[in-house]
Amino acid sequence: MTKPALLAPHDETPPLAMVIFGASGDLTSRKILPALASLADLGRLNENFTVIGVARTKWSDEDFQEAAMSNSAAAGDRWRNLVKRFRYISGEYSSTKTFNQLKQLLTEADELHGTEGNRLYYLATPPSVFSQVACALATQGCNVPGPGGGFCRLVVEKPYGRDLDSALELDAAVHTAFEERQIFRIDHYMGKETVQNVLALRFANAIFEPIWNRRYVEQVQITVSESLGVEHRGGFYETAGALRDIVQNHVMQVLALTLMEPPTGMDANHIRDEKVKLLKAIVIPTPDEAVDRSVRGQYTAGIIDSKPVVGYREEPEVAPDSTTETYVALRLGVENWRWAGVPMYVRTGKRLPHRVTEVAMQFHNVPHLAFEGELARQLRPNALVLRIQPNEGISLHFGAKVPGEAFKVQSVAMDFQYNSTFADSGMDGYPRLLHDAMIGDATLFIRTDEVEQAWRIVTPYLQAWSEPGAGLHFYEAGTWGPHIADLLLERTGDAWRVPEL
Ligand code: NDP
Ligand code: BG6
Repeated sequence: MTKPALLAPHDETPPLAMVIFGASGDLTSRKILPALASLADLGRLNENFTVIGVARTKWSDEDFQEAAMSNSAAAGDRWRNLVKRFRYISGEYSSTKTFNQLKQLLTEADELHGTEGNRLYYLATPPSVFSQVACALATQGCNVPGPGGGFCRLVVEKPYGRDLDSALELDAAVHTAFEERQIFRIDHYMGKETVQNVLALRFANAIFEPIWNRRYVEQVQITVSESLGVEHRGGFYETAGALRDIVQNHVMQVLALTLMEPPTGMDANHIRDEKVKLLKAIVIPTPDEAVDRSVRGQYTAGIIDSKPVVGYREEPEVAPDSTTETYVALRLGVENWRWAGVPMYVRTGKRLPHRVTEVAMQFHNVPHLAFEGELARQLRPNALVLRIQPNEGISLHFGAKVPGEAFKVQSVAMDFQYNSTFADSGMDGYPRLLHDAMIGDATLFIRTDEVEQAWRIVTPYLQAWSEPGAGLHFYEAGTWGPHIADLLLERTGDAWRVPEL
């Protein structure tokens, strides 16, 4: 039986040879290698562990080792010692020679470093070669553990397809090579402590469950806002846009954990079953309804942190007449007993004023407000805000009496901050997810039916926006998106929250 995910970080990983395809890339250097370094230094990596990097760039073993060290500047001796054994293969994924070399190095890893035939392949390549690599591994007989080994797993990065059809196609190809139980689809939001804390808040406390429904919750707002632009990923972003890049995966995962029914157990299948049930309850609009319930935008030049920044169309590798959206706002509905009729507002964007991700549960107003005065009129409805990042924490907003003779009430907040309670808050998701893949805990990874359903949910918007420039609104960098996004809520008398920092 799979171990409960919430206990996983304390387990040491088994002996293992990890193979990173796309070893010369941005993700490997910025996330994967530093995550491995931090696991090593925390003593969570088995000492019988090694990495084989694969990519086309002509690097030597030493170049790869150098990359592993320079990207993990603060790493200590444990990591330094491990890195000395890392190997690198420069080759094409279409070439048999690449995989023959890989087989040879895997055998060598078992013999020299005691990796015991256990394999973890990480696809950190462009998605266009995911299926090619997976199939080549199977053709070469690398989709099973090596001699004496216990497991062979495949970690796949996002995006998993670019629409429902391509996701199904990718899945069909990957499933010819690996069984579903071997496949670990990453969504790094699931590795964030505060995303997992949604489960703890909801299911380890008795006080929230009775009010977690349509009788008490008036609306839910999920904001994933970034102040960064597309940086050096303009080429990738042109093929994606905010709906594919953030809503189909990160937002859907956060929404599912926030709104799903209590799972019977905290293991992979119970949690993922409940997430899928929730995703299946999200209303799928017609393309016409999708137009009415969505806003898409693109940033123009503006000011971020007091510095001028260029517009999206001026970013490297972006077409000067690009119609790719960098902002999305949606009004979603969930048709089930618990949530029917409660609007779920979600928005995400690049070049918004701040980097902040939060889930705000806003409760109904009191039926009659007997207090008078301006402060009482300005009272905000009660809200429970889960701050996913930064300043990770939870705050409860309610009305309190202002000290003094008159009976005045005003909105105040009761605040819990992670970093003032927990010394080691371990907020980055990659070490956690890598660790879980190594120990075989799939709880925080995305199952095939979740990916499919998330694509079904966003499909009407993709269809509605398929005409070039259809419904694209511009917003200045450093603002909270196109003004027209306010109309999504104004119709129901609501307004976007100003996220807490
Ligand atoms: P990069 O383009 O920086 O790196 C991709 C890697 O794959 C490189 O090692 C590159 O090296 C190799 N590669 C590039 N093009 C091809 C090709 N046509 N055929 C075969 N190999 C190729 O991408 P990222 O590292 O940014 O992204 C890797 C994966 O991770 C992608 O799927 C991306 O969507 C995902 N991801 C990335 C994030 C990030 O922050 N970077 C965040 C979330 C997901 P070489 O040319 O030497 O072969
Ligand atoms: C990635 C997206 O999945 O998530 C990026 O591809 C985005 O465009 C990033 O910037 C945001 O992640 P985080 O952890 O910084 O919120």
